Amino acid sequence: MDAADRARVEAWLRYGDDLGLGPYYRSRSAQERPAELESSVQAEPLPRTMAAAAALRASFSSPDLSPKTSVGRSQLAAAPQKPAQAAASVLPIVTGPSLFEAADRIENDTLERIRADIGDCTRCKLHKGRTNIVFGVGSMKAELVFVGEGPGHDEDLKGEPFVGRAGKLLTQMIESMGLRRQDVYICNVVKCRPPENRLPEKDEITTCSLFLFRQIDVIRPKVICCLGSCASQTLLQTTQGISRFRGEWFDFRGSKLIATYHPAYLLRNPNAKGEVWKDLQKVMSVLGLQPKRK
Ligand code: URA
Repeated sequence: MDAADRARVEAWLRYGDDLGLGPYYRSRSAQERPAELESSVQAEPLPRTMAAAAALRASFSSPDLSPKTSVGRSQLAAAPQKPAQAAASVLPIVTGPSLFEAADRIENDTLERIRADIGDCTRCKLHKGRTNIVFGVGSMKAELVFVGEGPGHDEDLKGEPFVGRAGKLLTQMIESMGLRRQDVYICNVVKCRPPENRLPEKDEITTCSLFLFRQIDVIRPKVICCLGSCASQTLLQTTQGISRFRGEWFDFRGSKLIATYHPAYLLRNPNAKGEVWKDLQKVMSVLGLQPKRK
């Protein structure tokens, strides 16, 4: 096997090991498979990031969300093993990036380069109706990134995310957390306004989310807060409804990810504000923030 092939196989094995599948690769015989792997095979299949997230949640048997906590794949790999897994011979723990992380990170990427790569984009049909591309705004050193769905009317005109009614509510939410808008980074799954503010379509999301992933990779925030279904389903690669996983912690390429309701939903359903505030308090706990004094 040449060096490149060997590196590829090793990366796959590391990825499997990150997910706790080492014993599975050692023995594919159904009888010898550890019970917890069998049950996960029969369970509703989770997409890759959700499977990793489920393992992450399992590792939170006594949740520690203190500000310094950084949960990464190395911690997943180091989590105590259940007896069936411990008995099997497992591959050594490798702390490098998994294949999923290594494969699509662009070396020395910058927000400027991403914006330049987007250019005067015509990759999907959304370009036909846009006034401005709405790239993102805020600090490239932000510890907290908010991800929305796509620009609306006001954002399209101004070229800045979350500046309309929902945006004003988001700004209030940020300030309630003891932060200013310029302390965080705000962006969307799609960068051009969908006609009549309809939901972005699958092909539009697939095309545009590559730029979102690069933005997140460059900023490497401690926390990503997904606003609404579109952002959370895109980043977690799931079709499950947001109410199934809202307020729970997930891992997204080394950042902690939490989903909460979209501010536009809160404008229509103010009773849900309490739920969102609980989610934001979880974020504040991780970031060591105190609520703004009135
Ligand atoms: N809704 C979003 O999802 N994003 C915006 O930028 C504005 C409204």
